[in-house]
Amino acid sequence: MKFAPILASLIAAGTLIAPLAAQAGPLVERPLVIAHRGASAYLPESTMASYRLAVGMGADFIEPDLFMTADGQLVARHDRNLRNTTSATSNTNIDSLTLAQVLALQATSRGDEVGTAGYSKAGNGYYSSSDRFDIATFGDVLDYAYSLYKADGTIIGVYPEIKTISGNDSYNLAMAAAMLAQLRDPKYQGFFNGQHNNVFLQSFDATVVRYLNDGANNLNDLPVAYLITDCQTAGANAATIKTIADGVGTSIANMNQACVDQLHAAGLLVHAYTLTTDALMGASGKSYATILGYGVDGIFSNNPDLARAAVNAAYPVSEPATVALLGLGLLGVMGTGAARRRRQAA
Ligand code: G3P
Ligand code: CA
Repeated sequence: MKFAPILASLIAAGTLIAPLAAQAGPLVERPLVIAHRGASAYLPESTMASYRLAVGMGADFIEPDLFMTADGQLVARHDRNLRNTTSATSNTNIDSLTLAQVLALQATSRGDEVGTAGYSKAGNGYYSSSDRFDIATFGDVLDYAYSLYKADGTIIGVYPEIKTISGNDSYNLAMAAAMLAQLRDPKYQGFFNGQHNNVFLQSFDATVVRYLNDGANNLNDLPVAYLITDCQTAGANAATIKTIADGVGTSIANMNQACVDQLHAAGLLVHAYTLTTDALMGASGKSYATILGYGVDGIFSNNPDLARAAVNAAYPVSEPATVALLGLGLLGVMGTGAARRRRQAA
């Protein structure tokens, strides 16, 4: 499976606690904070401003949902219809436009456009109704993550999702192929080839997931998460899912300890979506503490600041070790691992 080399390296590094065993804890040392469409509670989703804010808030990964334009370019958008998240004023499918036409639009927030709870609203202290936000391409997201690494070794992961058009495997798989090719762009010098554990691939579409799991397509064996809305359904089918994926992304709505344990017992990572604020999640009976208490391996959150605080509280950083390393002046020469620890401890 795709994640096997990563699992092996984590075991070797001593960062994996109890792989492939049923348990209430995560399979990894600390759950990932995955910024869901960036810091989408604060700034218009899937914009570079939103991704930058997410990184500043302590995200480990930034999530671009992807659609492909009529001329074959990948854009960070969640909705195929651009009406609710861009300046488009009528129903307009992104796949009917060229990249130039898409980029001529402005990104907006569904919080402003249709009042969706949990998404940003102008006047919230982060932006005003007169601010303008460009639509981001997948290349913009990759360039940004790579620029952070080149600047000071900071590793921020990318977690692209192949959004799909139902019944159009040709389009869907062409997008998956384009995504994999873009991750291998020589200009990134192998940064996204898996050696840094900084890439996850994801889709709700089983055909796409199988494509991504195929080593003939996924040349760098990047880990794949299969998105399944219902955790309990996923848990009941864990063994089968394990044949095509390394992890599962699943909604918090029906999540419970049993399904998380079932998925872990099959060796699947569990990444929960979508967390917002405890108040907004209250209707589902869930909170950050509840979800982290199940031992999930990552959380997609619109509020990466809250997610970071919750993970740090549940999985405290070992301060004595950090202080000792600072005293020895070693952090500056220890590379990305030290950079990650330093930032997470903040
Ligand atoms: O990818 C995890 C989560 O984002 C799935 O839901 O609809 O927000 O892409 P959605
Ligand atoms: Ca998504």
